[in-house]
Amino acid sequence: MKKKISIDQLVPGMYVVSTNRSWLQIPFFRKRIKSREIVQKLKAYRVTEVVIDTERGGDLPDSSSFGPLNPFDHPEILARNMNQSMAAHSKVLSETTKIMEDVRNGEGFTEKKADEQVNLLIDQVMEDPQSLLCISVLKNADEFTFNHCVNTAILSLFVGQFLGMSRDGLLQFGKGALLHDLGKCMIPREILMKPGKLNQEEEAIIKTHVHKGLDYLKKMNVASEEVLLFAGEHHERMDGSGYPNGLRGDQISWYGKLAAVLDVYDAITHENYYKNSEDPKSVLEFIASGGSKSFDPKAYKALSDCVGLYPPGTLLMLDTGEMAVSYEPNNRSPDRPKVLLLTRVDGGFCATPEPIDLTEPKGNDPSQFLRSIVTAMTHEDANFNPFEIIEKYSLHESR
Ligand SMILES: [Fe+2]
Repeated sequence: MKKKISIDQLVPGMYVVSTNRSWLQIPFFRKRIKSREIVQKLKAYRVTEVVIDTERGGDLPDSSSFGPLNPFDHPEILARNMNQSMAAHSKVLSETTKIMEDVRNGEGFTEKKADEQVNLLIDQVMEDPQSLLCISVLKNADEFTFNHCVNTAILSLFVGQFLGMSRDGLLQFGKGALLHDLGKCMIPREILMKPGKLNQEEEAIIKTHVHKGLDYLKKMNVASEEVLLFAGEHHERMDGSGYPNGLRGDQISWYGKLAAVLDVYDAITHENYYKNSEDPKSVLEFIASGGSKSFDPKAYKALSDCVGLYPPGTLLMLDTGEMAVSYEPNNRSPDRPKVLLLTRVDGGFCATPEPIDLTEPKGNDPSQFLRSIVTAMTHEDANFNPFEIIEKYSLHESR
């Protein structure tokens, strides 16, 4: 007997005959599910529903067919996921800040400490990748450098999972991202936090953070080859214009190519001491426009395929005059992600952020939509803080 079930109900032993994504878009063919890792991989490829054959494999525990259990259709689960992601983000941010402060004060740290933080993020990414990325995009902590490290780690895990990395692969990749700017702890704060443009001398000092970080990681003996490549090559550029070694093209490792794209994407989407933020969609366009010269097209494609046209956490203006935050990319219609509605047509705030699917048609005409995106916005464009609204909601709903 064939049954359509939610991806959350899929467990090892079941036999999958089809998914809601084309087999051409995912590296799987109909098969028996052998491990939880395969389920996680299907989730990473944005499979939300599958059809199982209960004569060739396992069945649901009570032999009944449930409707899909997508968190987006269950506000209490969505709120709980948001709440867990917020807690994980805060914990990792505070522990990473401690690691960095210790380094700044000349003390060391153990690999175990960094591993714990990345493992905590991996667990959350496996549980619900959208909510963690959404929180990391929306949250702007005071200490840009540390926040940037945590956010780049989250983004790297999101992309790494999408690329099908193993758990250990994710650990090394995420650790590289978490520690890539460690050398900035050895740069004077007044230069790091200087608003506006740096002079030539200050710029040269900032650039030493790559060597300083690498030397430190090697001295402490806490880093794998992958971590060293992420930290050592994240400012290298395909046309040789990067630093510290001016590497070109394939002189840069795959880790280094991915690191460059992830570092720039997170740095530009977040506000910091010397500039305002840009909306994620514009940042992707910026990277794409300079892509052939500066960034590896495959690395850019991995990021853009993974986060979609409107990455989770992007603030959006809709044609109804309402404002929303993108939550889940939609591969079939990239301009119609699932969103959380924050304001109403009259401009007032929604009592709680309302989950909305932008593919919802207007009346009976499937070519007309109830709501469409007019533009992506930066946080400075809005006269409110979207993170505070999401935070209040998740704290209230998940109680
Ligand atoms: Fe850097």
